[in-house]
Amino acid sequence: MITTTKRALIFSLASALLVLAVSTLPWRGPENEWQAYQRDYFADTGVTGQIAVRQVTPRLGPDGRPTDDAPPELCLTCHLGLEEISASHPVETFGCTICHGGVGLALDADRAHDGLLPNPSDLSVATQTCGQAGCHGDQTDPARDHVAQVTRSLQATYAGGIALIRYTFGAQKDLDPRFGVLGGVDPDPLPQTVPSLTTYHVDPNAPPAEVQFAQNCLTGGCHVTEPPTDVPYRYRSTGCAACHVLYNDEGLYAGTDPTLPRDEPGHPARHRFTTAIPFSQCNHCHNRGNYSLRTMTFTPRPDLPPAGDPIPPTMPEEGRRLLEYYQPIGQFTLCEWELDCVDCHTQTEAMGDGHFWPDQKTMQSVQCRTCHGTLTEPPVTVEITDPDDPALRLARLNGNYELNVGDVVVLTGRGEKLGSVQLRDGQLVQFRKVDGRQYVVPLVTGSDCRQQPDQQESRYCHQCHAYQR
Ligand code: HEC
Ligand code: HEC
Ligand code: HEC
Ligand code: HEC
Ligand code: HEC
Ligand code: HEC
Ligand code: HEC
Repeated sequence: MITTTKRALIFSLASALLVLAVSTLPWRGPENEWQAYQRDYFADTGVTGQIAVRQVTPRLGPDGRPTDDAPPELCLTCHLGLEEISASHPVETFGCTICHGGVGLALDADRAHDGLLPNPSDLSVATQTCGQAGCHGDQTDPARDHVAQVTRSLQATYAGGIALIRYTFGAQKDLDPRFGVLGGVDPDPLPQTVPSLTTYHVDPNAPPAEVQFAQNCLTGGCHVTEPPTDVPYRYRSTGCAACHVLYNDEGLYAGTDPTLPRDEPGHPARHRFTTAIPFSQCNHCHNRGNYSLRTMTFTPRPDLPPAGDPIPPTMPEEGRRLLEYYQPIGQFTLCEWELDCVDCHTQTEAMGDGHFWPDQKTMQSVQCRTCHGTLTEPPVTVEITDPDDPALRLARLNGNYELNVGDVVVLTGRGEKLGSVQLRDGQLVQFRKVDGRQYVVPLVTGSDCRQQPDQQESRYCHQCHAYQR
C-alpha cells in the first residue's frame, strides 16, 4: 500500500518533471495565454526577463502547517507581477492555493480557477482559509483567534442596531440584543456581553418598517459580510480584506499584474495586506451619509461622489483630508481629522475581541480623556515590560513607529495599550500610524480648559472645540 506521504512525493516529483518539460520546451507556434500576459507585463513595466513558466513550491501544507511535500504551483506564470500579499505571508512559503484554492498545476485559466475563492477572507469561507488552526484560528490563544473575533464583532453582527429597530417598531419589548447579521454562540461570555445571538432573517409578517430596514439597511452598504455598493468612495472588499486590503476611492487596480484590468472599478489598489489602515478605508463604510429612521432609506452625503462633484486631483492633501473625512454636518476637533481612525480606535474596537457586545456604546472604550486626561486626572500610562506584549507586535507589523520594552504608553479604559502614544521626555508624543508623522498631545490637565471633568462625551467637547470646515 502506498502511504499518503509517498503518494504526495510521487505526485510532486511527477509534477516537477512536467513543469520542467513544459518550461524547457522551445517556444514555437501560436502564443499561449500565459505567454501573452508575460509579454504584456514586460512591455508595461520595462522589466527585462524571460518568457517562461514561473513555479513556486510552497512550504506550508493546506492545513497551514510546515510540510516538505506540497505540490508546486504555476499561478504566477500568468499572474507575474502580482504583489506579494504581505511580508508575513511570503509567496515562497505560502504560494497561492493555501488561501485561494484553485488548481496550482494548470496553465489555462479555466482549469487553474476551478474551485477558486476570489476573496479567501470573506467571512463565509474564512474559517477554512485565514482561520486554519496554524494561522488566524488559534484555539489556544483567544487573542489570535482573529476569525472568531471578527465574526462576533459588532461590525459583523450589528446587534445593537437590530435591537433598536425591532424595539422602535414594537417587535420586541426591550433593547436586549437577540439577533445578529451573523449569529452564533460565545463559549466564554463576559458579564457585559451576550452569550449568543440568533442569525437575523426578517419575518415577512414583521412591521413594514422592519422589512424595509432589512432590505435597505442590512444588504449592501456597510456590513462586513455584504458586498459593497459599487459607487466611488464605497469600493471595498468583504471579510478581513474590508479593512486590511486597501481600495482607492475609484476602486481601480494600480499594481502590475497583467491579468487584472486597470480600468474596471471594483478591484483593490494592490494585492497587499496592511495594518496601517488610512481613514479613507474605514470611510468606505463609515461617514458616507445618513439613514432616515422614518423612511428607512439612505441618503448619501452631498459633498462627494456619487451625489456630489469629484474633488479636483490638484487639491492639496491637507484640504482633501478635511473635506473627505466627515460629513458636512459633522462636528470634530483638529485631531479627529489629522489623525486616522486607527490612531484612536484600537484593534479590538475595530475587529472585536471574540465576544458579542450588545451595542456600540458599550463596546467602544477610547475616550477623548484617554489621550488628553481631564482637569483633575492626567491620562493613564503604563510601561511595556513583557517582550510578548501584543502592542510590540502591532508596532512591528506597522513599521512606521518604534516601540520597545521599557517604553511608557497610554492605556485605554479597557486596558488596551495605545503603543503609538508614548511618553518621551515628559511629553506625550503620538505617531500617526499611516506615515509615522509625530504630534505632541496637548493635555487638558494643567491647561485653561473649561470642561466639567465628569462630562467626557465628544459631543460635549465639541461645544467649545468644534473645527470649522
Ligand atoms: C492562464 C493564465 C492564468 C493562470 C494559470 C491563473 N490565472 Fe488567475 N486570472 C487570470 C486572468 C486572466 C484573470 C482575470 C480575468 C478573470 O477574472 O478571469 C485571473 C483572475 C484571478 C483572480 C481574481 C478572480 C476574481 O473573480 O476576482 C484570482 C484570485 C486568481 N486569478 C487566482 C489564481 C490562482 C490562485 C491561480 C493558480 C491556482 C491562478 N489564478 C492561475 C489568469 C490566470
Ligand atoms: C494569505 C492569503 C493570500 C495569499 C497567499 C494569496 N492571496 Fe491573493 N488575495 C487574497 C485576498 C484576501 C484577496 C482579496 C482581496 C479583495 O477582495 O480585495 C486576494 C485577491 C487576489 C486577486 C484578485 C485581485 C483583484 O484585482 O480583484 C488575485 C488575482 C490574487 N489574489 C492572486 C493571487 C496569487 C496568484 C497568489 C499567489 C502568488 C495569491 N493571490 C496569494 C489573499 C491571498
Ligand atoms: C473593521 C476593520 C477590520 C477587520 C474587518 C479586520 N481587521 Fe484585523 N485589524 C484591524 C485593526 C484596526 C488592527 C490594528 C492595527 C493597528 O492598530 O496597528 C488590526 C490588526 C490585525 C492583526 C495584527 C495584530 C495581531 O493580532 O496579530 C492581524 C493579524 C489581523 N488584524 C487579522 C485580521 C483577520 C484575520 C481578519 C478577518 C478575520 C481581520 N483582521 C479583520 C481592523 C480590522
Ligand atoms: C465593511 C464596512 C466597515 C468597515 C470597512 C469599517 N467599519 Fe466600523 N463599523 C461598521 C458597522 C456596520 C458598524 C456598526 C455596528 C453597530 O452599529 O452596531 C461599525 C462600528 C464601528 C465602531 C463602533 C463599535 C465598535 O465595535 O467599537 C468603531 C469604533 C468602528 N466601527 C471603527 C472602524 C475602524 C477604525 C475602521 C477601519 C479600520 C472601520 N470601522 C471599518 C462597518 C465598517
Ligand atoms: C482623535 C481620535 C479619534 C479619531 C481620529 C476617530 N475617532 Fe471615532 N471616536 C473617538 C472617541 C473618543 C469616540 C467616543 C465617542 C464619544 O466620546 O462621544 C469615538 C466614537 C466613534 C464611534 C461610535 C459612535 C457612537 O455613536 O457611539 C464610531 C463608529 C467611530 N468613532 C468611528 C470612527 C471612524 C470610522 C473614524 C475614522 C473615519 C474615527 N472614528 C476617527 C475618537 C476618534
Ligand atoms: C489617540 C489620542 C487622542 C485622542 C483619543 C484624542 N486626541 Fe485630541 N489630540 C491628539 C493629538 C496628537 C493632538 C495634537 C494635534 C496637533 O498638534 O496637530 C490633539 C489635539 C487636540 C486639541 C487641541 C487642538 C485644537 O483643536 O485646537 C483638542 C481640543 C483635542 N485634541 C480634543 C479632542 C477631543 C474632543 C477628543 C475626543 C473626541 C480627542 N481630542 C481625542 C490626540 C488625541
Ligand atoms: C466650555 C468650553 C470648553 C469645553 C466644554 C471643553 N473645553 Fe477644552 N478648552 C477650553 C478652553 C477655553 C481651553 C484653553 C484655550 C485653548 O488653549 O484653546 C481649552 C483647552 C483644551 C486643551 C488644550 C489645548 C492646548 O492647545 O493646550 C485640550 C486638549 C482640551 N481643551 C480638550 C477638551 C476635551 C477633550 C473636552 C471634552 C471632554 C473639552 N476640552 C471641553 C474650553 C472648553
